[in-house]
Amino acid sequence: MSKFINFKQFHRNSYLYYRVLLIKQYRMELNDRRKFIKNSLLLAAIPAVAPLDIFAFDNKKSEDQSGTAAFVFAQIPLPYAFSALAPHIDAATMEIHYTKHHATYVKNVNEAIAAEKLDFKNAYDFFSQSSKLSPKAKNNGGGVWNHNFFWDSMSPTPSAPSAKLKAAIDKSFGSLDKFKEEFTKAAVGQFGSGWAWLINDRGTLKIVGTANQDNPLMDTALVRGTPLLAIDVWEHAYYLKYQNKRPDYVAAWWNVVNWSQVSKRLV
Ligand SMILES: [Fe+2]
Repeated sequence: MSKFINFKQFHRNSYLYYRVLLIKQYRMELNDRRKFIKNSLLLAAIPAVAPLDIFAFDNKKSEDQSGTAAFVFAQIPLPYAFSALAPHIDAATMEIHYTKHHATYVKNVNEAIAAEKLDFKNAYDFFSQSSKLSPKAKNNGGGVWNHNFFWDSMSPTPSAPSAKLKAAIDKSFGSLDKFKEEFTKAAVGQFGSGWAWLINDRGTLKIVGTANQDNPLMDTALVRGTPLLAIDVWEHAYYLKYQNKRPDYVAAWWNVVNWSQVSKRLV
């Protein structure tokens, strides 16, 4: 091997090395641009931050035996008596719904949280990663939260939408009557067991349906947004009084909507 530097070869190699560096840099920038575009799209898909009051009732932590605080789901105390919403929703339905169906979701989701060692900060965090959850955790977590939200969306005391909510409904649906018509259609038309929701999707109100115990907070939801109002259209919510007549149950339910609470959820 020659002791002398072959300058021609050296320059050629340096030039080639420089070209390789340029290509690498270009590829890195391209990847960064792709990442930026992907992240921008992801950010656009995330709904507006939900108002804290809709999570306040289930954002609880419990100490397990090791002393570690872990998020668990809890059932809110029913804000009224089982008979308070009658005749629109009868006392027996309310009692079975709350003490059997809802309570079972609480037991099951917390079993899953313990068995699967799930560590979430709160319900919003839990649902934002629902695509990673087991069916037991996801379905029962949805079951707890959705029912808490549902109980808190009803009241025996009549109320009306705030001026702000009324304006948002008018803007998105034309009028309150038109909104009720569209929402009723979604609730009655939801195939099988599920829910109909009014959501706030970054300033636009939308009506969406979800199957089973899914909700619009989940990262698996077709349309995500902050829930403002929901109706449970599982048969267990109405069968004792209305049997197969879901439209009658939905029509009666409008009489017990807690518009004051729904109005507070619009931020
Ligand atoms: Fe239910």
